[in-house]
Amino acid sequence: MIAVYPGSFDPITYGHLDIINRAVNFVDTLVVAILNNPAKKSLFTVDERKRHIQILTKDIPNIKVESFSGLLVDFAKENNANIVIRGLRALTDFEYEFQMALTNRELNKEIETIFIPTTLNNLFISSSIVKEIAEFKGDISKMVPNIIEEELKFRYGSK
Ligand code: PNS
Repeated sequence: MIAVYPGSFDPITYGHLDIINRAVNFVDTLVVAILNNPAKKSLFTVDERKRHIQILTKDIPNIKVESFSGLLVDFAKENNANIVIRGLRALTDFEYEFQMALTNRELNKEIETIFIPTTLNNLFISSSIVKEIAEFKGDISKMVPNIIEEELKFRYGSK
């Protein structure tokens, strides 16, 4: 079973890594798919985000890190994947995630979405909150791995 784990990953957080580490236990291959969307302002380039994820998942044998543009279902098909993995945090994620899952299924009936509930510790972590805290020099050490923390500090000029 090949599964795709799509997202913006700008930057990757402990929340994402938790989902990755759990998903690789029940799929044959997990393709982490970074959305390349020039219309969406991002802090890190797609290549930087790809490098972050590659470094942080280097010990996982059944993982691939790719970027994609266009429709997720088309990327999944090109990679012979019929599963989409998404993490779920609080109830506030649900409506958006449900809409995406139903849309993707409408676009391709062969693709199923599997939701993985977050680990309690990661309930309040999101890439946008991490960036906001980093911008104002707050402590993000419990939200992102050290290399991401360092890169964020560098970006926001506290080094
Ligand atoms: O981490 P994010 O930003 O919540 O991830 C959103 C993502 C990348 C999964 C979603 O925007 C996506 O799949 N975009 C590709 C375009 C697409 O397929 N749209 C139709 C389904 S909503």
